[in-house]
Amino acid sequence: MNNPFSLESKVIIVTGASSGIGAQCAIDCSKMGAKVVLVARNEERLRQTLNQMEGDGHMILALDLSSSDGLKEVIKDVVSKMGKINGVVNCAGMSSVTPLKMITDGQLDQFFRTNVYSAINLSKEVTRVGNFDKEAGCSIVFFASIMGLVGEKCKTMYSATKGALIAASRSMACELAKNKVRVNVVSPGAIETPINARLPHMADAELRKELEEKHLLGLGECADISNACIYLLSDAAKWVTGQNFIIDGGYTAR
Ligand SMILES: NC(=O)c1ccc[n+]([C@@H]2O[C@H](COP(=O)([O-])OP(=O)(O)OC[C@H]3O[C@@H](n4cnc5c(N)ncnc54)[C@H](OP(=O)(O)O)[C@@H]3O)[C@@H](O)[C@H]2O)c1
Repeated sequence: MNNPFSLESKVIIVTGASSGIGAQCAIDCSKMGAKVVLVARNEERLRQTLNQMEGDGHMILALDLSSSDGLKEVIKDVVSKMGKINGVVNCAGMSSVTPLKMITDGQLDQFFRTNVYSAINLSKEVTRVGNFDKEAGCSIVFFASIMGLVGEKCKTMYSATKGALIAASRSMACELAKNKVRVNVVSPGAIETPINARLPHMADAELRKELEEKHLLGLGECADISNACIYLLSDAAKWVTGQNFIIDGGYTAR
């Protein structure tokens, strides 16, 4: 029987592939047969991810996604080397615990550039005619968070960017469906990765226990999220677009 979750011969771009969930996504995409383009700023850590991947023909792209300068040419180059693109996992992102009164224009700008502009700009370039696989279709996955749906103290900046992605994905899904491009969002609960390892709710034992209890199934693992990405990238999800997949161990069920 054909495996509907296979990514055999698909070209998938994974941003944030140097760490945490993005690294896991890149590894799991390779295990499912994809040719993967690994994107983040730190080339050495991208190589560490590459070393854990299966198959050949993957590509490393050291890029700061907070700026769109030169992105058009970069994506053209990727297509010429790898072939037309079948999927993008926009996993790159930043987080912080910042009280409202401490927020500056500069920080807001950096958060929106890294978490929102990066995903929109990359999606724009990938979905230009000639860059994506119009016959097989293309699947775009945005990374939001449960913080885009519910609140916590000191998460205003982060929540604002994640809520923006959830809203943007729906309009993008409407616009691109005619081109066989699907756009969906994954909204994880807390997963222990470098993004939050030093933040108080993970580093402080009491706060961590509180956080664990809010997740009915405990904290998640990177693979819990990458499995959802595999589904969304695969033909098993060919009738799924404009949706937000909340994968949070029951956090929002309470
Ligand atoms: N972990 C969680 O609990 C959790 C929960 C909900 C949502 N999320 C979301 O899941 C995604 C991945 O998070 P994670 O936990 O895996 O975090 P992580 O381990 O800190 O990884 C973040 C990744 O983003 C890349 N990145 C950051 N800024 C970038 C930039 N300007 N240009 C290119 N790449 C950049 C980093 O690579 P370089 O430093 O090499 O550039 C790194 O690979 C994020 O969007 C996050 O908001 C995480």
